[in-house]
Amino acid sequence: MYMLEQEFVWWKHGVVYQIYPRSYKDTTGNGVGDLQGVIEKLDYIASLGVSAIWLNPFFASPMVDFGYDISDYYMVDPLFGNNTDLLLLITEAHKRGLKIILDMVLNHTSDQHPWFTEARSSKDNPKRDWYVWRDKPNNWESIFGGSAWEKCPFTGEYYYHAFLSEQPDLNLRNPEVVEEIKKIFRHYMEMGVDGFRLDAVNTYYEDAAWRNNPELKEGSDLSSHSVAGQRRVYNYDHYLNYSLLDDLREVTDEYPNRLILGEVGREGKDEHAWKKYYGSCNRRLDLVFNFDLLYGELSGGRFGKTLKAWESLQYCSWPSYALSSHDQIRAISRVIPDQDACPWGNRGKLLAVFLMTVRGTPFVYYGEELGMPEYKGLTDEQIQDPWSIRNNYTVPTRDGCRTPMIWDDSKHAGFSLGSPWLPVHETYKEINAAAQQEDQASMLEFYKELIQLRNGTPALHKGDLEIIIDEGDFLQYRRIADGEVYLVSLNFSAAERTVEDTGKVVLSSDRSVEGIEAYGFEIWKLD
Ligand code: GLC
Repeated sequence: MYMLEQEFVWWKHGVVYQIYPRSYKDTTGNGVGDLQGVIEKLDYIASLGVSAIWLNPFFASPMVDFGYDISDYYMVDPLFGNNTDLLLLITEAHKRGLKIILDMVLNHTSDQHPWFTEARSSKDNPKRDWYVWRDKPNNWESIFGGSAWEKCPFTGEYYYHAFLSEQPDLNLRNPEVVEEIKKIFRHYMEMGVDGFRLDAVNTYYEDAAWRNNPELKEGSDLSSHSVAGQRRVYNYDHYLNYSLLDDLREVTDEYPNRLILGEVGREGKDEHAWKKYYGSCNRRLDLVFNFDLLYGELSGGRFGKTLKAWESLQYCSWPSYALSSHDQIRAISRVIPDQDACPWGNRGKLLAVFLMTVRGTPFVYYGEELGMPEYKGLTDEQIQDPWSIRNNYTVPTRDGCRTPMIWDDSKHAGFSLGSPWLPVHETYKEINAAAQQEDQASMLEFYKELIQLRNGTPALHKGDLEIIIDEGDFLQYRRIADGEVYLVSLNFSAAERTVEDTGKVVLSSDRSVEGIEAYGFEIWKLD
């Protein structure tokens, strides 16, 4: 194993591995992954060379939005195990040098949370003001479809929900709610948790005057701050969002070396908007989760564009990069849309090289290290995602990227002895972790080699970045630290390219050719 230098900051220089616990490893046979399953796989995770694990929510929940609807912040849902399992997971992860990041949903709770069942019971209930009430709705639309207001049968008033009606928004203007959130943070940091991924940060606060959102004008950019034909001027990116983050920063700083990472959505985002969430010199969020490469087809030009945008942030806003997540189509299936399985050729590896060599924290979504593809063609009966179901399947399901991890070629790919909650991708016989561990040319072994190279090379994990060529289908940049210079060349085209420099090749898609082959890459250590 390489030696990490003193100033190696885990969340900044290390790699984060995202696990969707429902789909990682089931140890009980109920078809749903659990915390014991993650514990069982910690050696595998550590062998990747990653520094931290971000776990999607596993707290008590009716699971209407698969855990993003929390009914008890202090309890592991029995589906995933219990609080003792969580303690063990933290201890065992730490033994292996892995940090643990929890997913904190603060914008809303489940409608089954006792705070809400109390709040809705009467207008004068002490918890009433913990949620957002109005006597009549305005025109705001929910992100998951339909009005963002739901009439409460007990009091006749309407409550606000940015997402599903089963996910009522907390009233974060109420100081008691903020105090409670701080308590939750302290509780988990005391337990040893190393950081939090903050869900849906953009939607924390709403306009106090409840002004209607303006209609989206014809021809304007649909992706820009919009939902169902309206621009979310009054219930998105509210200025108070930043002050809550400042409070969370303060509480997080009560404990050493902890991270806060914000899910700042993609809509209408530009450098200016990101900077506000970072605050000056990362004094607000440590990391803003980068959505730029999570959507759409991944042609060469997008990588350069993203890189330039994030490099244009001031140097003290440390970027992050992700290609896949639990909400989007897996990158491998967007870069090779016509190809469902092995062999990937170079293109999957090309993605990995970009991710691991740019200046910023890389996020790897479970299965990405195997080149696990998106599950396409789930039938209406198989689809579980409420966003898709509530919209009569007109919204593409998020289930295709949430299918079970493919561990080996046994039944259900070694994920579960029971019947998995989502089908296992049919390519698991060829693409699985066990087979790839035996194959030096596999995606898995490539990921390990790459992460090891990154971890052991200051220029790659902490160095400055200088873009040399950005031609859309060919991207070249230098990474520089401690007097060492590395040159990364990524060929997103079907034509061969050459590199003009002198140095030593440290990683290459094909060392036997003179130039860089189609969809190939090279990393050089320059003289
Ligand atoms: C975030 C999560 C998503 C969830 C939503 C509502 O966007 O990533 O999975 O459905 O918030 O909590």
